[in-house]
Amino acid sequence: EKGGYDYFMLKEIAEQPRAVADTLLGRIDASGSLRLDELRISAAELREVDKVVIVACGTAFHAGMIAKYAIEHWTRIPCEVELASEFRYRDPILDPRTLVIAISQSGETMDTLMAVRHAREQGSKVLAICNTNGSTIPRESDAVLYTHAGPEVAVASTKAFLTQLVACYLVALYLGQARGTKWGDEIRAVIRDLSQISREVGRVLRTMEPVRELARSLADKDTVLFLGRHVGYPVALEGALKLKELAYMHAEGFAAGELKHGPIALIEEDLPVVVVVPSPRGRSVLYDKIVSNIQEIRARGARTIVIAEEGDTAVEPYADHLIRIPATPTLLQPLVATVPLQVFACELATARGNEVDQPRNLAKSVTVE
Ligand code: F6R
Repeated sequence: EKGGYDYFMLKEIAEQPRAVADTLLGRIDASGSLRLDELRISAAELREVDKVVIVACGTAFHAGMIAKYAIEHWTRIPCEVELASEFRYRDPILDPRTLVIAISQSGETMDTLMAVRHAREQGSKVLAICNTNGSTIPRESDAVLYTHAGPEVAVASTKAFLTQLVACYLVALYLGQARGTKWGDEIRAVIRDLSQISREVGRVLRTMEPVRELARSLADKDTVLFLGRHVGYPVALEGALKLKELAYMHAEGFAAGELKHGPIALIEEDLPVVVVVPSPRGRSVLYDKIVSNIQEIRARGARTIVIAEEGDTAVEPYADHLIRIPATPTLLQPLVATVPLQVFACELATARGNEVDQPRNLAKSVTVE
């Protein structure tokens, strides 16, 4: 049942190109427009939405953080993202024009379910992004967009995360399409790029041997830090979460811009720091800033592990280890940048003799608060 792989996690990582393609299937029509009639929320209702609130836990929360960048950019609707366990206990401001999006692989996470119930009591519409047909969260929501990752068995979420991202992009682009923002041309171009992206995920998977080797060489480390900016920030958080749960190592993700506000004090000789670098095209200000962050930490002795686009030569002098990912539009980069971090955590866990599919103290779906 593991299809020749040692662990379900390895199988599920390998299934990601397929999972991404399946989640797009039938949702882009021949003219390159999105078709999400399955949402059962009319274009008129979508035009009424004046705020989006995303609730989720763990890895799904990281998908939600990335969704915020996409939704605000393509739709200009204000979007908040909040841990489901915090949301319901702070009397959030919700009304019928708020669209609440609940993201959950299992559809059974109690914190997320409680947030859904709370939002509906306030009269908000709830859209579930979920991987499990007929589970509780979609049943209790107004609408659902299923991710088609197939069953995810390993406790650590991998292919479900990538498909949650795809579903979030679809919702963001669809909202943008329905509301006709000034980004019409960009939206059409991104839909085209998205329809090709599963191939790029496949390309990343074929170049992972150096990442495995690097992971094995770090098996006796105590700490790994992860840095990113913009959508690279949630990717850094996800990389750190994977390492905590699988390798039982101290791992932390930071927004690179926060370094000088405290975390840089942690940098010491030979500390591994993974940096997710945005595309050098387009957002050059952001790019330049992260390159100088890499220089700063390296000057203080950090061992820099740099995830950068193919063709980005400017980072080469500052990277002790360079992990290449294909060029993508900025907002889609997490689909390719997360994959090496999954492989890294899985290999480190194996090297440390940990049980990859069943990490200690964790359950696949958390049905208690
Ligand atoms: C991390 C992980 C957890 C889940 C979280 C939410 O690898 O698996 O952080 O993402 O418990 O679970 P769902 O998506 O089922 O609501």
